[in-house]
Amino acid sequence: MSLEIENLVMRFGGVVAVNDVSLNVKPGMIRGLIGPNGSGKTTIFNVVSGYYKPTSGKVSFDGKVISGLPAHQITALGFARTFQNMRLFKTMTVLDNVLVAMGHHCKTNLWQAMLNPVAVQREDKMLTEKALHLLSLFQIADYARERATSLPYGHQRRVEMARALATDPKIVLFDEPAAGLNEKETEWLSETLLKIRDSGITIFLVEHDMKLVMGICDAVSVLDYGKKIAEGDTKTVSTDPVVIEAYLGKEEDL
Ligand SMILES: Nc1ncnc2c1ncn2[C@@H]1O[C@H](COP(=O)(O)OP(=O)(O)OP(=O)(O)O)[C@@H](O)[C@H]1O
Ligand SMILES: [Mg+2]
Repeated sequence: MSLEIENLVMRFGGVVAVNDVSLNVKPGMIRGLIGPNGSGKTTIFNVVSGYYKPTSGKVSFDGKVISGLPAHQITALGFARTFQNMRLFKTMTVLDNVLVAMGHHCKTNLWQAMLNPVAVQREDKMLTEKALHLLSLFQIADYARERATSLPYGHQRRVEMARALATDPKIVLFDEPAAGLNEKETEWLSETLLKIRDSGITIFLVEHDMKLVMGICDAVSVLDYGKKIAEGDTKTVSTDPVVIEAYLGKEEDL
């Protein structure tokens, strides 16, 4: 279940957002992807999850080439993601946000509902129980019937994570999950990401919070201006002069 990115290039007109990047995410690991603003991190996620077709290069999963496949097919192979700018369904409840991700409203059609209402009800109940269980793992089950966007920001982020896990993914791409969280919430996130990994789900993590990245990643790749400039374990990367320079040059803290 290894994710392999080989010589990936993504251009937008004159902008080379990703420039010949190769990296892999091995099963059961947390691979961090860091780099200053605009260095190409989200673009890599967008290519991997099928939102963009790469200009050149290749992405494969389990030995099968997935670059160029439509997003829904990539999802079906076991990918899930969260977005840098949250994308919850604003008018839906917390519970419905998770149920929709499970394909709840697509599983049965009107004919099935009329011909076999008991089976449909049973399936409804099973999915609802599963969704509530996920919400309780994220400690937001008490808010299940509330409108998702009425929750405090940190809790909305939890809904988004629960929704990503609702599809039973093999790998999850988290794009800046700590953004906007306070220190305590970030600690909780850190433990939660480790639990997700330890449950057997592979994690590809884009994050600016270096304490979080250095605390939980098994390996880290560093981008600058679309190019991979460093890679290795957290210690190697955090002491690499090339990495420090890339951040200091942009007046950010490492
Ligand atoms: N759809 C697009 N059209 C044109 N340019 C784009 C598009 N998406 C990204 N870019 C450009 O590609 C470059 C990389 O952007 P990207 O969003 O991948 O950076 P990032 O590393 O995720 O940054 P941040 O840390 O700020 O989220 C930027 O110059 C950006 O403006
Ligand atoms: Mg980004």
